[in-house]
Amino acid sequence: MFSASLPGGTWTLGDLTVTRFGYGAMQLAGPGVMGPPADRDGVLAVLREAAGLGVTHIDTSGAYGPRVTNQLIRQALHPYSEPLHIVTKVGATRDSDGGWPPARDPESLRRSVSENLEDLGLEVLDLVNLRLGDAQGPQPGSLAEPFETLAGLQQQGLIRHLGVSNATAEQVAEAQAIAPVVCVQNMYNLAYRQDDKLIDMLAEQGIAYVPFFPLGGFSPLQSSALSAVAARLDATPMSVALAWLLQRSPNILLIPGTSSAAHLRENAAGAGLPLSDEDLAELDKIGH
Ligand SMILES: NC(=O)c1ccc[n+]([C@@H]2O[C@H](COP(=O)([O-])OP(=O)(O)OC[C@H]3O[C@@H](n4cnc5c(N)ncnc54)[C@H](OP(=O)(O)O)[C@@H]3O)[C@@H](O)[C@H]2O)c1
Repeated sequence: MFSASLPGGTWTLGDLTVTRFGYGAMQLAGPGVMGPPADRDGVLAVLREAAGLGVTHIDTSGAYGPRVTNQLIRQALHPYSEPLHIVTKVGATRDSDGGWPPARDPESLRRSVSENLEDLGLEVLDLVNLRLGDAQGPQPGSLAEPFETLAGLQQQGLIRHLGVSNATAEQVAEAQAIAPVVCVQNMYNLAYRQDDKLIDMLAEQGIAYVPFFPLGGFSPLQSSALSAVAARLDATPMSVALAWLLQRSPNILLIPGTSSAAHLRENAAGAGLPLSDEDLAELDKIGH
């Protein structure tokens, strides 16, 4: 059953129908995204709250924790009820300093898929994003070898659908020539709008765009224009930022992160805030 109360309705990723309002699990691992979290029970409660609200799209990665976030998702929610889909990412690992070095050679990708299956308690991963680029953002270069490796694992039946993350428009097109791409997960929010053209192009093709850092990530969005619109609407800036994304384009899916059940409920309600043309015009100026 989909919750009628979640804003934005649903979107179809390949043959998977998900709520456009999803949940991003990265920061559940704890400070620096290195686990374990201090309050394990609190984390499990947040994940169960997400499912209880009717969220059917949870974003994760084996690199979170590392492996800790996936194990928490399994403990909180396995066996997953039918409409719930876990979307994971491969292509980066963690080093002892908490860095995120790339791990896109075929052997690392196969190992990562296998660890995701084990930690999430699944026989098939619903959707795997290939993470490209680096901490500075997307970087040019061919993705043929890693994406072909994932396409091979898809053909073996270990992965249902594929996406790309931290990718350039050229890399998206290159991936599409290898196997169908159902989503692109890149950094995008009210203040950071590098992908405006890409979003519109993907919308025309019926491909989802999933902004990471929708609320600014580790540095929360701050803008006087955002605060002014929020104050006028008697809403929080976070609600306005999420509502703006849902109204920006129908192919945008939300994966805001939080380690607080109260923030999660606030975000789920706030993302449905109606924004007028006047509000949208004011908010549009922030990222331009
Ligand atoms: N593909 C990639 O390379 C990549 C990179 C980064 C992230 N991601 C994905 O994107 C997801 C979202 O990113 P993110 O979680 O880092 O950033 P985010 O969603 O932009 O922001 C999360 C931050 O906002 C705070 N927050 C959330 N709701 C709030 C509210 N109602 N009021 C006040 N503060 C609130 C959270 O703090 P509290 O915990 O205190 O609520 C947390 O610090 C991640 O979970 C991950 O799945 C992907």
